[in-house]
Amino acid sequence: MTKLLFLTLLATCLSCALARPFNSSLHMRKARSLGRRANTTPVATAWYPGWYGSKFPPAQISWEKYTQMTFAFALTTPDTSVISLDADSQKILPDFVTEAKNHNVSSLLSIGGWTGSQYFSSAVASASNRTIFVKSVVNLATKYKLDGIDFDWEYPNKQGVGCNLIADDDSANFLSFLQELRKDPVGSKLILSAAVSISPFAGVDGTPMKDVSEFSKVLDHIAIMNYDIWGAFSPTVGPNSPLDDTCSPTPAGSAVSAIKAWTSAGFPANQIALGVASYAHTFHVAPSAAINSNGTLALYPAFDKALQPAGDGETTGMTGVDQCGVATGPSGLFDFSALVSNGFLDKNGTAASGLIYSFDECSQTPFLYNKSTQVMVSYDDATSFAAKGKFIKNSGLAGFAMWHVAGDSNDILVNSINKAIDAAGSTSTTPTNGSPSLTVAPTPSSTATTKQCRRRS
Ligand SMILES: *[C@@H]1O[C@H](CO)[C@@H](O)[C@H](O)[C@H]1NC(C)=O
Ligand SMILES: *[C@@H]1O[C@H](CO)[C@@H](O)[C@H](O)[C@H]1NC(C)=O
Ligand SMILES: *[C@@H]1O[C@H](CO)[C@@H](O)[C@H](O)[C@H]1NC(C)=O
Ligand SMILES: *[C@@H]1O[C@H](CO)[C@@H](O)[C@H](O)[C@H]1NC(C)=O
Ligand SMILES: *[C@@H]1O[C@H](CO)[C@@H](O)[C@H](O)[C@H]1NC(C)=O
Ligand SMILES: *[C@@H]1O[C@H](CO)[C@@H](O)[C@H](O)[C@H]1NC(C)=O
Repeated sequence: MTKLLFLTLLATCLSCALARPFNSSLHMRKARSLGRRANTTPVATAWYPGWYGSKFPPAQISWEKYTQMTFAFALTTPDTSVISLDADSQKILPDFVTEAKNHNVSSLLSIGGWTGSQYFSSAVASASNRTIFVKSVVNLATKYKLDGIDFDWEYPNKQGVGCNLIADDDSANFLSFLQELRKDPVGSKLILSAAVSISPFAGVDGTPMKDVSEFSKVLDHIAIMNYDIWGAFSPTVGPNSPLDDTCSPTPAGSAVSAIKAWTSAGFPANQIALGVASYAHTFHVAPSAAINSNGTLALYPAFDKALQPAGDGETTGMTGVDQCGVATGPSGLFDFSALVSNGFLDKNGTAASGLIYSFDECSQTPFLYNKSTQVMVSYDDATSFAAKGKFIKNSGLAGFAMWHVAGDSNDILVNSINKAIDAAGSTSTTPTNGSPSLTVAPTPSSTATTKQCRRRS
């Protein structure tokens, strides 16, 4: 693929600060999470995109729904001693940390991201660089009074945006770096997490490592980025964030197969947070391909790349050039909140009348289609978040990590997943119909890889 195309995206989260009374096991989870480095700590977290700062200041976050919050992103640079934060982020990050502390939520800073991973490889490539990089990370954590650091390296020994440095030894060097960070007096006390692909870290031969258990001794948790599994870069329309793909005609990765892959490689389930998406991919699909004869939406229809719909804050046919010098067009991405403000969804998050809505029982995700614009939307809603919450609980995972917190609308998504996690816990651990769990997981698809195109302006 000519990798995506992610240009500036505007937020439209309107009213995301409804409080709810302190109750529920979330608060029990939060209380426990404050005891650091307990590897069984339940995780209710999201990333906060620093570039949303003026539209969605940290005070608007519904802090009481989360145990941790991660500010995105600080970027790697060609100089290992420098981890950069743009001017806006430097301004907003202190407010973010203060707000988090006032709400007893742990604050983390994420280093990397889709566009910020260019120089991870060289930063950890030699013993002397690792020592310098440890110092840089510790200085950043100390300066901003952070509780933790998230490493969002996309990806060790696997190309991401297109012009990242990569090396055979990336994963081994990353581990050595994390081990050294843990030996530092400040680093030993930090919460350390990593945002990871649906496949375990790539080893020297570029294929997923068979044993990643050493990483679980130095990281508190990983967040599996189970989104952008299908998108504008795919051969057909498909689910952005499939819960399951074992029932799919064209498996490309899912929560079920990703958890299976990571746990089979020795990463404990109770240190894995499932990455969940508060955003949608859109596609231009002809009505003949989009709609079955019985009126439901077709799954995996062909779409027209040349007519890529403009996403939230984009214009049709817009062009640009990414950091690697590659031409880009509209991404077609919409925040969940922008699906509401653009009339795809009602205020309560259900499909607007006049659109065709179908729920794919395999991926456990919804699709929408506007016949007049021929726009198909692959997204997540309260129903798919409830299914994911149940899966998280029934699979014994640490919790969830949402990309991103400002994409929710009136807390519809976070409320749904929290409620499902709590409910699944209070009733039964037996998976019920329609709720895939590890017990039904297959061997992971060998094609499960790489399309995590996390957006960043
Ligand atoms: C708190 O949550 C529990 C479990 O979800 C529920 O049974 C109880 O009624 C709630 N209490 C209040 C005051 O809302
Ligand atoms: C170490 O980092 C410097 C930049 O600070 C870089 O120029 C050098 O290539 C790195 N070393 C290795 C072995 O990658
Ligand atoms: C934070 O924790 C402290 C100590 O447990 C408690 O007194 C305070 O009420 C908590 N604040 C919030 C907003 O939960
Ligand atoms: C509608 O048609 C599709 C495609 O033939 C089929 O997969 C689906 O089960 C049908 N749904 C209903 C509700 O009949
Ligand atoms: C579908 O597209 C048409 C044409 O742009 C638009 O007028 C209509 O509002 C859209 N419907 C919904 C529910 O978004
Ligand atoms: C959402 O709102 C629509 C009207 O805008 C209504 O028809 C529908 O029943 C509501 N759904 C829920 C779950 O409240």
